[in-house]
Amino acid sequence: MKAALRGDYSRAAKDYSVEQDWAAYTAAEHALFKRLFDRQAKLVPRYACAEWIEAIAGLDAGNEIPRFAAISKKLKAKTGWSIVAVPGLIPDDAFFTHLANRRFPVTVWLRKPEEFDYIVEPDVFHDFFGHVPLLFDGVYADHLHEYGKGGLKAMRLDAVKMLARLYWYTIEFGLMRTPAGVRAYGAGLISSGGELAHCVVGSGPHRLDFDLERILRTDYQIDKYQTTYFVIESFDQLMRETAPDFTPIYARLRTQPALAPDANLPTDRTAV
Ligand code: PHE
Ligand code: CO
Repeated sequence: MKAALRGDYSRAAKDYSVEQDWAAYTAAEHALFKRLFDRQAKLVPRYACAEWIEAIAGLDAGNEIPRFAAISKKLKAKTGWSIVAVPGLIPDDAFFTHLANRRFPVTVWLRKPEEFDYIVEPDVFHDFFGHVPLLFDGVYADHLHEYGKGGLKAMRLDAVKMLARLYWYTIEFGLMRTPAGVRAYGAGLISSGGELAHCVVGSGPHRLDFDLERILRTDYQIDKYQTTYFVIESFDQLMRETAPDFTPIYARLRTQPALAPDANLPTDRTAV
């Protein structure tokens, strides 16, 4: 956790959950959420993966900040996941424990209007719009559950830093190859006004085939567009390739230097 977090942690329970005090959102906040939603709604048909697009259509979530309880009910019925309201970023053990119990933590506060284009810390727009729709996909939902359990295991093995890179390059900034071309499924991309088009059609970034060990070794930058993306074939592939026991992989990679975010290796396979 960073030193100064933005949310109000004073009322959080031991698992960092809070009430989503929906009545406390202002009309200006609902309007800002809608503006964010409307901007992304123009981009996602072209740049987001089909699984995400299909899920958002069933949510009727674009007019105001959603009520988590209502969405949770639908989600629970579909894949057994629910949303838990949190004040902001939470410690690793609390985060992994929620995921390992099929609960996704969603930040309650919304960014300020001057952060319309870019925000480093996750807010309710990023967490909800970016992450929640894909939890309606069965394979993705099962994968994230496995990730949560893998996180608790990585804590015991002192390997959270490596595992966090996997989350970053898949759940947050992952691309997928589809019949229509490369599409985004990472939440940091889907909720971004600028990076969503950049990651799919921009000429600068590297787009590499998904490679578990390459990812576990690669550092990332949190305050600018990514220079490297990893492209999966499907959520089935992601599930399959992350299923093996990471214990020996962590042990081996621990002895190797980390790779820079923009590293170029002779073994890299460019996906597009
Ligand atoms: N297979 C991983 C392990 O043994 C757990 C994991 C599953 C990690 C899915 C990430 C995603 O540690
Ligand atoms: Co996120």
